[in-house]
Parts: sequence; structure tokens; C-alpha cells
Amino acid sequence: MIYGERIRFRAIEREDLPRFVNWLNDPEVLEGLALYLPLSLSSEQRWFESMLNRPPDEQPMAIEIREGDAWKPIGNCGIFNLDSRCRSGEVGIFIGEKQLWNQGYGSEAMRLLLRHGFATLNLNRISLDVYETTRRAIRSYEKAGFVLEGRKRQGMYKNGAYIDVLQMSVLRQEWLAQSA
Ligand SMILES: CC(C)(COP(=O)(O)OP(=O)(O)OC[C@H]1O[C@@H](n2cnc3c(N)ncnc32)[C@H](O)[C@@H]1OP(=O)(O)O)[C@@H](O)C(=O)NCCC(=O)NCCS
Repeated sequence: MIYGERIRFRAIEREDLPRFVNWLNDPEVLEGLALYLPLSLSSEQRWFESMLNRPPDEQPMAIEIREGDAWKPIGNCGIFNLDSRCRSGEVGIFIGEKQLWNQGYGSEAMRLLLRHGFATLNLNRISLDVYETTRRAIRSYEKAGFVLEGRKRQGMYKNGAYIDVLQMSVLRQEWLAQSA
């Protein structure tokens, strides 16, 4: 387990899949994600099997919060596209329990993921892509220390319109300065 203040990361289990299917069939959750088709449990099971074949450092993790004495899953996150020579990686996150949005869990999870990426995986640069329309996500990434570094103009087509895809990143030196 990887522990933060109010959250922890754990490995994803097969039993999590029905919950993921519920979350990822919610149009509000999908607003910020690239998925756009109804998702079946069978295709999520296929995703799970292929995920187990990925390098361990690139396997997504479940985000959990404490609920009484137990831990409750609220979403997932992970690091992928690790480049061993450039010491870089990309991150992704979603919180499927949308009644818990805007309570700081997303930015706390991202801070914990950054700590994992820099202090455990020894990365030098961590980046992500986010749609310009996903204001909540952008704000939560800024709170975690990400800075805007570029813009893929009209890089996504959603809801009948082209939208820009923002590129954000944190460098190790920035993370160290923030953590000091
Ligand atoms: C994006 C996501 C992970 C953020 O998690 P979260 O727990 O809601 O984020 P936080 O509470 O840490 O921060 C949200 C911030 O956005 C702000 N916010 C919310 N709606 C906003 C809007 N429309 N415009 C600007 N800021 C907004 C909140 O006020 C808060 O900022 P504050 O703490 O300064 O007040 C979560 O909302 C989510 O999973 N959404 C669905 C999937 C998704 O979009 N994933 C991201 C793909 S790139």
C-alpha cells in the first residue's frame, strides 16, 4: 500500500471491475476522459488481463479513502509511458465517486502519485494531458504542482466541437522545491 494523509493506493483486483464499469459508464465522469462508448464488463475484464501483463511500475492503482474502520475505493490512477533514459512518465486519474469531487481527494491523490513517481520511481519529469474544458481537473492539477507547458490545438473532438488538449508537467526540481 502507498499511504497519503486521507487516502491510500492499492493494487487493482478483479473484484473491482464491476465498480469500474459503473463509474466509466457515467457521462459526467467521461467528460474528462477519452472513452466515449458504453463499456461492458467483458471488455473491462479483457483490459484487466492486459493490464496484468504491463510492467509492474505502470499498472494502475485503486484510490481508497478511510470510511470508519474500512477503506472505500473512490477511483483509480497510475503512471504509464515510462521512459527509462529520459526518466519521464505520464499520469492519469479519475475519481468515479462523483459525490466526492471538490473535496480535495483528486489533488491529494495526484500529490501522492507525484511523490511515488519522484521519490520511489526516481523520475525527473511527470506529465499529463487534460481537456481545456475540464476545469475541475485543471485546477486540481495546478494545486498538486503541475504547470501548463503546451496546448495541442483542437486536439480532441467532444460534444460536437473541437477542443484544445492542454499539456501540463512537473519537473523533479520543482517538486523538490515545493516539498521543501
Ligand atoms: C479531475 C478529478 C480527478 C479532480 O478530483 P477532485 O477531488 O474533484 O479535485 P479537488 O477537489 O482536489 O480539486 C478540484 C478543484 O477544482 C475546482 N473546481 C471545480 N469545478 C470547477 C470549475 N468548473 N472551474 C474551475 N474550478 C473548478 C474546485 O473548487 C477545486 O479547487 P479549490 O480547492 O481551489 O476550490 C475528479 O474530479 C475526476 O475524476 N473527474 C472525472 C474524471 C476526470 O475528469 N479525470 C481527469 C482526466 S484528465
